[in-house]
Amino acid sequence: MAEPELGNLGSSIRPHVLDSTRCSLTAAVLPLDAPPKESPRYMISLAAASTRVPVFKYHSRAALSAAFSSTARIRNARKSPDKINYNRISFQDVPDAEHVNYKRVTANDLEAHREPPRRVKMLVRDFIEDSLYNPHYGYFPKQADIFTARDHIDFRSLRNTVQFQEEVARRYAEYGPDGDGPGRQIWHTPTELFQPWYGRAIGQCLVSEYLLKYFPYEDFVIYEIGAGNGTLALDILDYIQEQYPEVYDRTRYNIIEISGNLARLQREKLSAKHPCVKVMHQSVFHWDKREPQPCFFIAMEVIDNFAHDMIRYDLRTLEPYQGIVTIDGHGDFSTYYTRVTDPLISSFLALRRRLMHPPPVPRLLELSPTLRTFYTNLPFAPNLSAPEYIPTRLLSLLRTLRRHFPRHRLLLSDFSSLPDTIEGVTAPVVQTRYRNETVPCTTLLVKQGYFDIFFPTNFDRLRDMYEHILSQPLPLSAAETALPRSPLSTSASSLSVGSDFFSSYHPKNRRPPTDGVASASGIPVGERKSSVFTHAEFLSTYADLGKTRLRSGENPILDLYQNVKFLF
Ligand SMILES: C[S@@+](CC[C@H](N)C(=O)[O-])C[C@H]1O[C@@H](n2cnc3c(N)ncnc32)[C@H](O)[C@@H]1O
Repeated sequence: MAEPELGNLGSSIRPHVLDSTRCSLTAAVLPLDAPPKESPRYMISLAAASTRVPVFKYHSRAALSAAFSSTARIRNARKSPDKINYNRISFQDVPDAEHVNYKRVTANDLEAHREPPRRVKMLVRDFIEDSLYNPHYGYFPKQADIFTARDHIDFRSLRNTVQFQEEVARRYAEYGPDGDGPGRQIWHTPTELFQPWYGRAIGQCLVSEYLLKYFPYEDFVIYEIGAGNGTLALDILDYIQEQYPEVYDRTRYNIIEISGNLARLQREKLSAKHPCVKVMHQSVFHWDKREPQPCFFIAMEVIDNFAHDMIRYDLRTLEPYQGIVTIDGHGDFSTYYTRVTDPLISSFLALRRRLMHPPPVPRLLELSPTLRTFYTNLPFAPNLSAPEYIPTRLLSLLRTLRRHFPRHRLLLSDFSSLPDTIEGVTAPVVQTRYRNETVPCTTLLVKQGYFDIFFPTNFDRLRDMYEHILSQPLPLSAAETALPRSPLSTSASSLSVGSDFFSSYHPKNRRPPTDGVASASGIPVGERKSSVFTHAEFLSTYADLGKTRLRSGENPILDLYQNVKFLF
């Protein structure tokens, strides 16, 4: 569908505007005077600590510029001529016609490119997806490295949290100093920091559910997306092999991994020891096979990297506009806005209206057109709402689950909030490492492939979206073939007359039973609906807490990651 052209919109205060700050990579806009601090990914892990390990510091802008400049040109930010309608991120009224006429591309179109493209435009989610995942220059295929300790930390021998931090810092230092150019992108995840105890806790959670509901009638089928170093899979499988050998014999562990490097690492780590593992090198967004069996679907610290779109609302009309990134002939970036034409953005916005999740616009403005007119005519009032990052790719994942994994149980964990984000609502952290220091940025428009871009997730909204999507009927052709007969359901199943056959009563905390699929008792009991847990709530239910308790009584597996939640 063609975009409404910018020139059509007429008014001098229309929000079809070009971001006047052109960012080459060098304009990563580092907060130069900010105090030394740690990487958010790392800081999360040490959030509750009293003394921070001085592993990361800000780096000077000059050094970063020299290292990353693709064009060796830094444009001075043009002053916005905007006098009447003031937006904190400055705008001019009419976008550069040349940029508007650039060819529109998607991240998929760019997969064959060996170098970042020039003279193109794309949705914000395509820009993020290309930056993170392009097979030739993307961050995950080329840069990412996940911290992994050679041997497990002996928590019980450590005095207190300070000594625990020192131990982590010591192991981290074993990676050695970065050379010139962008540093190794090393992150910590709870899987790695608390191995094997974190993985064993996840294993315990899954196996409990399996034993309760499916053993011995069904195999124990697990799908993990974004398995990183393969550590979680290893710890889960070691645990099941050791504690539940009869379940291990029924286990099939499938990994869907977008990064070729990480997929190779996962095979090396897992194949010999656990032949039940199959690693599939592909994005979950390209997944098109149906898994008819009951299965567990795991995503740990994966959805934070899923591309988001950026929208803003015209504050006079409350019409949403989609953000477009342009890249000019020199590799410099700009943004402008058009009416929403993208089907995925439209679906997301329709879903959120249906779920009554309000847009980030002041309630009074939302309710009163008169107030909006008054407000937007005030001197210095913004004509657009703040940039909002919406999880469109997360919506794609939920649809994939609905369509291709009809009997899955989802276990997902990720950041519910993040420090040091760029400006905006549900905005991401954009950061890189340079000469052993983590450098957060204040813009998304940075050189493709050198920066990690990750978002916080609103878990309550995620749960609502997920439950709503799961409650939708499958398209007929999918529904017809999705569900094989369970050994428990009879061929003349009364379930086929509908899930209301036994009773019209459905508890609110359960989904409607899937037609034709009985529980182990033969009664059509719907799956329990998913719930949101804090990291500490989840781990205190499933982890062997004695194994990570320090001599002081502190327990980092519970105390840290306070900004992380689970959906299960
Ligand atoms: C931050 S790492 C987390 C790794 C691991 N789950 C852990 O907790 O240690 C994100 C992982 O997700 C993978 N990933 C990101 N997007 C993906 C996608 N669309 N499909 C499959 N894997 C993806 C990355 O390559 C990486 O392995």
